Amino acid sequence: MNATIPVITIDGPSGSGKGTIAKQLAEQLGWHLLDSGALYRVLACYAQRQQVQADEAAKLGELARLLPIRFEGERIWLDSEDVSSLIRTESMGNAASRIAAIPEVRAGLLQRQRDFVRPPGLVADGRDMGTVVFPQAQVKIFLTASAEERAKRRYKQLLDKGMTVKMNSLVEEIRERDERDRTRTESPLEVPAAALQLDSSSMSIETVMQQVLDFVQLKLSPAAS
Ligand code: DC
Repeated sequence: MNATIPVITIDGPSGSGKGTIAKQLAEQLGWHLLDSGALYRVLACYAQRQQVQADEAAKLGELARLLPIRFEGERIWLDSEDVSSLIRTESMGNAASRIAAIPEVRAGLLQRQRDFVRPPGLVADGRDMGTVVFPQAQVKIFLTASAEERAKRRYKQLLDKGMTVKMNSLVEEIRERDERDRTRTESPLEVPAAALQLDSSSMSIETVMQQVLDFVQLKLSPAAS
């Protein structure tokens, strides 16, 4: 890992707003972006295509190392297939969460995530960015929100995409996924030391973004090092 290239990590559960904040922050700074959840989602899709089951840990680890994924602006490719929309479904999120608990999978994706560190800097979002993948990161942020608020946001997103979904089952699914991501033994979702913690339940994206920017400026100012 190149310790001279700055890294900002944004961790948190799904629907906390971390994806939106990470994207805006990377754009404002002119830095690279790593959406690590997309790697797990595309891997879940790849495993289905290759007919590898969730209990075949060694094979899944191998698929993780070889994953033919390509990020192209807003589009994400698995081999020659554009999987950008497919990987955003609830079922693919759940499949990703299940395989993400497998140590061989996490080991297979570790170096691939670190390879995203390139000048002038990287903004990385996920569950274990500040704890395991980039423990040396200069700035760490942990974003959360209540399960009800996150379900509401997700519900709206899905409606906007023309998909129908029941609010009750969405809250249940979110709780179930949180529980799995938080309690797994390998790299569980947890707050990194020295992270800025924000609960976005009753905050607008603009307010969250402003607080994040203030913290980033404080941490990256020459006086902070
Ligand atoms: O952030 P997301 O909803 O796209 O992530 C999908 C799943 O992938 C999430 O439920 C858990 C897993 N994941 C992970 O274990 N570690 C990460 N750094 C990112 C995602």
